[in-house]
Amino acid sequence: MESHAEYWASRAALEWQVEMGADEAMLDAPVDRYAASADEAAPRAAAIPASPSRPAIPEPAPAIDAAAMARAAAARAETLDDLRQVISGFELCELKRGAKNTVFGDGNATARVMIVGEAPGRDEDIEGRPFVGRAGQLLDRMLEAIGLSRTSPDAQNAVYITNVSPWRPPSNRTPDAAEIAMLLPFVQRHIELADPDVIVMVGNTPCQALLGQTGITRLRGNWAQVLGKPALPMFHPAYLLRNPAAKREAWADLLALKARLKSLKKA
Ligand code: URA
Repeated sequence: MESHAEYWASRAALEWQVEMGADEAMLDAPVDRYAASADEAAPRAAAIPASPSRPAIPEPAPAIDAAAMARAAAARAETLDDLRQVISGFELCELKRGAKNTVFGDGNATARVMIVGEAPGRDEDIEGRPFVGRAGQLLDRMLEAIGLSRTSPDAQNAVYITNVSPWRPPSNRTPDAAEIAMLLPFVQRHIELADPDVIVMVGNTPCQALLGQTGITRLRGNWAQVLGKPALPMFHPAYLLRNPAAKREAWADLLALKARLKSLKKA
């Protein structure tokens, strides 16, 4: 008689087969595979017709390279409107699932200055425009202090504003490295299409995306190059709201921006 252990081992093997989908008899009579020689078993197996009730197990889907897909999608955009549509239709970023709106950009797209922030917060997600909450209002006042405004129709005095992420992250968390890498082609294409004279990166996230560096306290005020354009890292206005003492450095950076715009105009 079969021992207890053998019974449970056979049963486990059977259950495993059922889990794998082998839950249907293919022939009327069982085949004794031990009796059949290897030569005859092969043609017999080949002759077994595929069951119409059980489709073939599909190959596992190849892993999707979301950053490569974003790069290809971004490259197709010939205008800012194209890019807005491409980004709105991009479904591979998890951040999109929790967001109410795709926040693309705001201000004058012909502006000499393009500001790149991190990601929309609650207010921006609701309104569908970047930097409209408290931090955005401070940003507007800072820019106004050097004669720049997102509502100016004149490119000389205007700014254009976007973020690394067009979608609000859950609980306003910082986008992670994989998300930043995935969204980078969109920001880069955004910069190419808006074609500003100068880029301003507020906070660590745009510096990580566009410079591959973080450490805003060290980076701020030091001009860098992004896509061949002068680019200035600055403190994020939300940081300035929490640390008003840092407004001193922010003011110095704004004056450096103003001076750079003046010198570029002359050149
Ligand atoms: N912070 C950002 O970085 N971007 C916004 O649009 C709002 C807050």
